[in-house]
Amino acid sequence: MKILVYLGTGGVGKTSVAAATALAMARAGERTLVLTIDPALRLRSALRLQEGLLEQQVPLDPPASGELWAALLDVRATLDDAVRMYAKAGMVDRILNHPIYATIADSLVGMQELMAVERIDQLAKRGFDSLVIDTAPSRHALEFLDKPMYFSELVGSNWVKLVGRTYKWMATSPMASLSEKVLDVYARVEAILGTDLVRQVLDFYSIFVSIAEGYAERAVKTVALLKDPAITEFRIVTTPRKAMRDTRFFLDALESRQFRTGGVFVNRTWELDGAAAGEGLVGSLAEWYAAVRQSHAAELDSLRGEFDARVPFIATLPELDSDVDGLPALERIGAWVAARAVT
Ligand SMILES: Nc1ncnc2c1ncn2[C@@H]1O[C@H](COP(=O)(O)OP(=O)(O)OP(=O)(O)O)[C@@H](O)[C@H]1O
Ligand SMILES: [Mg+2]
Repeated sequence: MKILVYLGTGGVGKTSVAAATALAMARAGERTLVLTIDPALRLRSALRLQEGLLEQQVPLDPPASGELWAALLDVRATLDDAVRMYAKAGMVDRILNHPIYATIADSLVGMQELMAVERIDQLAKRGFDSLVIDTAPSRHALEFLDKPMYFSELVGSNWVKLVGRTYKWMATSPMASLSEKVLDVYARVEAILGTDLVRQVLDFYSIFVSIAEGYAERAVKTVALLKDPAITEFRIVTTPRKAMRDTRFFLDALESRQFRTGGVFVNRTWELDGAAAGEGLVGSLAEWYAAVRQSHAAELDSLRGEFDARVPFIATLPELDSDVDGLPALERIGAWVAARAVT
């Protein structure tokens, strides 16, 4: 199996390029799945997906020799699945019905980042030839990989382990010998909040602890899979004017964490070649187009000058004459991706 992860700032074309890449891979005979971990779900309109399905095969006309599948990240469903798969038999309902569970599952921002690796793990076990991952625009480029690692450190820390394992006993044992300091902290926090929230959280954690530990273990393995250069390649998507800044930012982020950078796509580049001929408005337009095209070419030259040695490929993708919505536009971008990417 191979995994391709597309990164980029907002609106540069990550979703379009990810979907187009997956389509090109299906055309090349692979069983491919494109997963979006972006809550905005633009993938739905790009591929014209059916409503209500979290995973579906995309029908292609003409049919491909491979298969194209698309999956969305639903945080609640991913967490529910993890509980059903990994909790002990009698515990599933107690966890799913606990009031704290709903609060955690619905705290979208944090959970989105934690559940992305869980979803990648669930899908990586499904026997696809390739997974293409469309990420959310983010100022913290790799939050969806950093957060699970912080979480697993936290879950593995002695204090958290101790609380998870001993809370039930401590809560019911008047003679509990756990440090008074800890009990005092609970009492003070609860007095401030005026609820027994802390106790509820701890009670929940004491039944959820094995799920949290299991999650942490899988997250560490999934991140290792994403770090394996034989399996995973990260690609940066950018646009001509942002190319220098974006490439520097994402390359640094990837290199400092030892992820493999596969390449950079400078999307929406104006490349049509043609003599600037004509008079009046037509002439002015042609001149304007030529000037923009030249400025894009100059940006690309600088980019190559600075980063060629650090990146296996730097390639352009053209500005289309339409939005990238629906399969015909994706087929066009996909053909460019396949022709330009060195894998
Ligand atoms: N090569 C292209 N030619 C023309 N339009 C394009 C091209 N690439 C992307 N677009 C358009 O740009 C817009 C943003 O594209 P897309 O949703 O793929 O970007 P994104 O990086 O995933 O955005 P977000 O950061 O919001 O997730 C869409 O309207 C899409 O149709
Ligand atoms: Mg997107």
